[in-house]
Amino acid sequence: MRLYNRNLPYVVAIIMILFSILSIAGIILYNNNRFNTAQYSENEIEFVIGVSQADLEEPWRIIMTEEIKEEAKKYPNLRVIYMEAAGSYKKQIRDINELKAFGVDLLIVSPTDPSKLTPIVSETYQEMPVIVLDRGIEGYDYTLYLGPDNGRVGKQVGEYIEKVLGKQGGNIVEIKGSADSHSTKERSEGFQGILKDYHNINIIESIDADWNRDRAEDKMYDIYKNPKKIDIVFAHSDAMALGAYRAYTYSNYPHPIKFIGVDGLPGINGGLDLVEKNILTSTYICPTGGKEALQYAMDILSKQKGIPKKIILRTTQITKDNLEEYKLQQNELPLIHNPNEKIVLGFCNVGKEGGWREANAASIKNAAKEADIELIYSEADLNKERQIEILRSFIKMKVDVISFSPVVESGWDDILKEAKAAGIPVIIADRMIKTEDDSLYTTFLGPDFREEGRRAARWVASNSSKDDVVNVVEIQGSKNSTPSVERKIGFNEIISGDKRFRMIHSSYGDFTFKNGKEIMKNLLEVESKYGSTIDVVYAHNDDMALGAIEAIEEFGFKPGIDIKIVSIDAIKQAILAIKDGKLNCSVECNPLLGPQLMKVIKDIEAGKQTPMMIITEETVFTQEAFTREWLNRPY
Ligand code: AHR
Repeated sequence: MRLYNRNLPYVVAIIMILFSILSIAGIILYNNNRFNTAQYSENEIEFVIGVSQADLEEPWRIIMTEEIKEEAKKYPNLRVIYMEAAGSYKKQIRDINELKAFGVDLLIVSPTDPSKLTPIVSETYQEMPVIVLDRGIEGYDYTLYLGPDNGRVGKQVGEYIEKVLGKQGGNIVEIKGSADSHSTKERSEGFQGILKDYHNINIIESIDADWNRDRAEDKMYDIYKNPKKIDIVFAHSDAMALGAYRAYTYSNYPHPIKFIGVDGLPGINGGLDLVEKNILTSTYICPTGGKEALQYAMDILSKQKGIPKKIILRTTQITKDNLEEYKLQQNELPLIHNPNEKIVLGFCNVGKEGGWREANAASIKNAAKEADIELIYSEADLNKERQIEILRSFIKMKVDVISFSPVVESGWDDILKEAKAAGIPVIIADRMIKTEDDSLYTTFLGPDFREEGRRAARWVASNSSKDDVVNVVEIQGSKNSTPSVERKIGFNEIISGDKRFRMIHSSYGDFTFKNGKEIMKNLLEVESKYGSTIDVVYAHNDDMALGAIEAIEEFGFKPGIDIKIVSIDAIKQAILAIKDGKLNCSVECNPLLGPQLMKVIKDIEAGKQTPMMIITEETVFTQEAFTREWLNRPY
């Protein structure tokens, strides 16, 4: 057999070439798979989202990140880059800068330390959409905030503890998350705010355990050495509650203790499991918002209109009493409206008031038509009893959904219980209600009135003389209506601490032009008789401000110059008054709730979970920033 074949060199060369080609192909294939873009070429990836996560130590945050990943899979044209800061705000700032350098189109950030993260989030917001998830930052420099109402969680726990301890009261240990997190502050404030009224309930220890189970276990082990009686341990997370319980099991502590946690996660040692095992007396399901954040991110990137400013997710208490029912509900197929039948919506508005209300009514009617929803529209003539009658008539008609803008903030529980008993979901629009039982409504959709009051006051504070005393007149809306109550609180939050301002008069104008004019006319007459001066008028809405402007002109003064005027709504007539220099500032209160309301209704009827509160996006219109584009606004 010939040992040497003169063709051998060629064969070897061909083998070498084939081997190289296969190796290069293998490397390319591996790389593609590694970055999970195998199925798409680079030019098919339309959006890149950066996720900056506080840490991946807490089970709740791991679930949040998993939810985002799971939802992201539904969008083939999307790539998501994840970074986690291991609890360090300095690292999180670096992470965000790296994501920006990479060129992401939108940032989702769950802050480690909200106050330290506010500057970088605010700076990023100038360059791209930003969704703040779970822990809020200071101010409003973000596109959308999405998370639980942590203050409400704390209140719920406080109310539950008061019920559990009853008249004999008892001693509580509170285990907080990280001291610098807003969630901790808000939960603790809500919790302690409820208990401060019960003198027989004492918080004997309040410790920080940084959301960490083992840290809670160590700290509680030391506390158990103190023989002082502890009746309840409330931990801001189930993980920390489990740590406290574990220490309890081997500490020989002599008294029985009830443990309460928050998060209500599924799975082994999740809050639901711990309630089932009688380790926790109660937990509070706190949705992470990961799925919703990704959904809204894609809405924002695809330039959808009507993106809200805040989404508050509902928290639900779970105890042994309702655990099985809750688990069954999770497995139940949601009730879905028959697609062959129109959804019937019963909507009751407050009644005739002015420009804002007209725009609000038109928005709801037009949006119902657009959405092909059958609308039964009624108005309550500004009368609560009339409104209750109308809501009851909707129940009798067996409408699919009820929605209303409440004339006043209190006294709705009974009629809402009737709607709940009839299985009719209720969406509260525009004005929030006061109730102890927020299971009586499905979703609230409307503005943050208290922030509107703050914004009006911030304008006054930054546009008033630095040294002189400033006399302020307030013309409130309708007595006991949510906008009046909240706008007054918000305005006073800002000016009450500022010695320059004196509130020399405040009265109700019921949101009408006529009353605004009459109040102002009477005050000007008093002023001329007693020589007091009015420097600023704060009107809870534009219609009353426009009435006041007319009175000021008829009295011979120059509105906007002799007397500064700030109001709320930003309706077209107000924008014109700003253009003419007669109104100085109008804080937007968006009446165009129709499209978002119909989206919520369709989601409910499609069996989807809807947020507990959807807070609309709003801005401020001032003389100094006037632009003719404002004249093209839709209301
Ligand atoms: O509920 C919103 C308020 O009601 C508006 O600010 C006011 O104009 C309307 O009457």
